[in-house]
Amino acid sequence: MVYLSMLLPASYAFSAEQVTAQQFVNLQQGNTSFAGFRRAHAKGACVTGYFEPSGQLSALTQVPIFAQGTTPFIGRFSIAGNNPTAPDLKSPVRSLAVSFNISPTQQWRIAMNTPPVMAVSNPHDFYQQIAAIKSGPQALKAFFNAHPETQDFLNWKASYTPNQSLALERYHSINAFYLENSQGEKRAVRWYFEPQGHPMDVTSDTDNALFDELSARLLKGSVKFNWIFILSEETDDENDPAVSWPEDRQRVVAGEVAIEQIDMDLNAQCQSINFDPLTLPSGMSATADPILRARSAAYAESYRRRAKEKLLEALQ
Ligand code: HEM
Repeated sequence: MVYLSMLLPASYAFSAEQVTAQQFVNLQQGNTSFAGFRRAHAKGACVTGYFEPSGQLSALTQVPIFAQGTTPFIGRFSIAGNNPTAPDLKSPVRSLAVSFNISPTQQWRIAMNTPPVMAVSNPHDFYQQIAAIKSGPQALKAFFNAHPETQDFLNWKASYTPNQSLALERYHSINAFYLENSQGEKRAVRWYFEPQGHPMDVTSDTDNALFDELSARLLKGSVKFNWIFILSEETDDENDPAVSWPEDRQRVVAGEVAIEQIDMDLNAQCQSINFDPLTLPSGMSATADPILRARSAAYAESYRRRAKEKLLEALQ
């Protein structure tokens, strides 16, 4: 059995309770698993588009997409939860994942959510948070009361109004990463995609309201976001995804992300991608944030389960 703590730097290993990737995915899929689907963010659609850099980030990282030219990507919009037919407007979290082919040997996979921070700082507490969510509102309230580190997340939640469009949400990296330049200098950063769009007249409250709206919007033109990096200062903790960094931190507009097409087909290309946040190109590296290792292990377990089910289905 591989425990997540074995994948963590020694300073982050848990001395008491440990959570395996299998335990995470068992909890996330719950009693009803949907064969062939992701165990989290099961409902989603593939998109394609391109990134056009401003050039403003290239002094901080060697990743070539920030220097010049446009780079195509495959992406996936999703909503949180294990149900691939869940009603869009009921999900508390919306998401966007993107995958860049950086070179024949390097890819960059990114998965972002609407909150700017997590509620908790480590995998053990995230496991307890999911368990509390599944137990109901009372248990979740008790969980938040027992965890003061959830305050930044709760402040965001109180200020957040879900949009009627996936094109109008802000999508955050939440976890921090290091940018590395050719001189070997490292800077911890977080980032977000800031929407450029405006509300459309068409609103719907069907189960597919958000994906229908996005499809309608894309018929009229591309959906754009500014890709903004937040640069940390010495006093910011890059290993704790529950703590916001001060508002006055320097922000760099790295460029513009344009989404051009959507493909609702369940076998479209993005559906078989594992958006593992530790798939990083040269010029980017992971912080010691223990959540990153937990994510990587859990995504692999979810991927294994759904890939096996797809294979068995194809063999029938
Ligand atoms: C310990 C914490 C976390 C765990 C255990 C976890 C678990 C998972 C799992 C099992 C999947 C399905 C993977 C697959 O089958 O491909 C998933 C998908 C996803 N997660 Fe997480 N997650 C965690 C934290 C986060 C955070 C902090 C973010 C946002 C920054 C995030 C964003 C996403 C997104 C966007 C997807 C869907 C990606 C896609 O479209 O394939 N997760 N997560």
